Amino acid sequence: MTVRIQPSILSADFANFQAEFDSISAADGIHVDVMDGHFVPNLTFGLPMVKRMQEITKLPLDVHLMIENVDYWAEQYASLGVFSVTVHLEACESPAKTALSIRNHGSRAGLAIKPKTSLNQALEHIEHFDQLLIMSVEPGFGGQSFIDSSLDKVLEAKSALEKIGKAIWLQIDGGVDESNIAKISAAGVDTFVAGSAVFKAVNRNEQIKLLRSLAESGKH
Ligand code: DX5
Ligand code: ZN
Repeated sequence: MTVRIQPSILSADFANFQAEFDSISAADGIHVDVMDGHFVPNLTFGLPMVKRMQEITKLPLDVHLMIENVDYWAEQYASLGVFSVTVHLEACESPAKTALSIRNHGSRAGLAIKPKTSLNQALEHIEHFDQLLIMSVEPGFGGQSFIDSSLDKVLEAKSALEKIGKAIWLQIDGGVDESNIAKISAAGVDTFVAGSAVFKAVNRNEQIKLLRSLAESGKH
């Protein structure tokens, strides 16, 4: 089974994205955390920055929108031609319509839930999406510890998605590192966001390869 490692640039040097992107060329994609200071208590960057990121790398951009008014903004990000755009269920008023607006631009549509949001709420809408993102920390900051109860959510999500039968990716974000990635993988995740665990490494590409091989080992 394919596993994907997507470093989160929340832990990168914001003044030097070109060099930071070049240092993670072994990644399967780059996870781009857009925060507005309202939906989460942190502020990163917006549309013009992501537009420029899209121009300076060939790696697929996986845009994680932690913002309000996301039904409007999601399409704007998709129109940049990014690989995927993920919206939070807690901020989304019309999940099906918003997913369609993302897909109409050729991007994959993702649906995210915070740790305290029930999986069932997400499953009600998941047929309209291509990937489900389970947050394993409260969104807002990198470097937090993995919330262990997220593993139960992953197990439940995996079996629910198998029943639906569509190839919906199962993604995790928050506190993923070399100590826990194999068991998260064994529980059913195929797409792993890792911020601090990648960017703290001296050799980031070697770290990405290590995380990938540990995730693959969890599948056996
Ligand atoms: C948190 C962000 C994550 C974060 C992960 O709100 O969505 O993508 O950067 O960072 P680590 O891997 O350090 O927990
Ligand atoms: Zn994220």
